[in-house]
Amino acid sequence: MLTVVPVTPTIGAEVSGADLVNLDDAQFEQLHEALIAHQVIFIRDQPALSPIQQIALGRRFGPLHEHPAAPHLDGFPELFVIHTTRESRIANGNGWHTDVSCDERPPLATLLQLHVLPASGGDTLFASTYAAYETLSEPLQKLLCTLTATHASEHIYRGRYADRGVDDDGRGYPSSVHPVIRTHPDSGRRALYVNRAFTTKINELTSHESDALLKFLYAHIERPEFQVRFAWTKNAMAIWDNRCTQHFALWDYWPSERKGHRVTVQGERPYYDPGFDAESDSVRSVTSAPSHLRPNDSL
Ligand SMILES: [Fe+2]
Repeated sequence: MLTVVPVTPTIGAEVSGADLVNLDDAQFEQLHEALIAHQVIFIRDQPALSPIQQIALGRRFGPLHEHPAAPHLDGFPELFVIHTTRESRIANGNGWHTDVSCDERPPLATLLQLHVLPASGGDTLFASTYAAYETLSEPLQKLLCTLTATHASEHIYRGRYADRGVDDDGRGYPSSVHPVIRTHPDSGRRALYVNRAFTTKINELTSHESDALLKFLYAHIERPEFQVRFAWTKNAMAIWDNRCTQHFALWDYWPSERKGHRVTVQGERPYYDPGFDAESDSVRSVTSAPSHLRPNDSL
């Protein structure tokens, strides 16, 4: 049996007792349950998984996603090499975001193992977008549940990987419309689904209204009370659920190197389930938030 120890009451758990190369079905089920319960899980003290081993682990969660822009390892289109060096112009994930939310079916989960770490720094922060939704006031929750947002990627991906040999002349990048509040298919909980990287507009509002509301929502999502911060150790793996989290990979370690492999699992098309629109849901949301995080008691 695996041991699952929450890192905070809101988000994140450390899982021990797992050998990620040889998980039996019961252990995998426990790992999956921990992911659904804690939104991001951290598994330390692993061997460096080969590309085939990491792809096989990812496939236990579902079919894999192929990144629309990033270069992949030769022969492994599902494997994204995360690598930042002294010469890097960008560092992947250096800002709050959800992975590839511009896709019509954005990633369900991401499995990242880091093999090379800086001597210090390079932590990753994760935020619970369940907590963000559940701590909004009921009138705002109700409004957000009626809205959709555009998630684009041209502004991010065009030319982004030119220094790694990607020529994107003539290539298009995805853009999709998703509900602002999405229902998690496993937990049934609602999550706020807009992010600074990909979301360009709330479609039903004027530009001024959209800009102001998104600015507020981003600041709200980024409240430290909704976060967990992971200090990596060599060959640790983090697995996060992109449907109910955002993350920020801090690039505070230049000129040091940080390197690892990422595999991403294909998700469903985000949807909003109005089934709980009755009073019972709003009661559940407000009462499930810790009292010091409830509306009218904010920053
Ligand atoms: Fe990311």
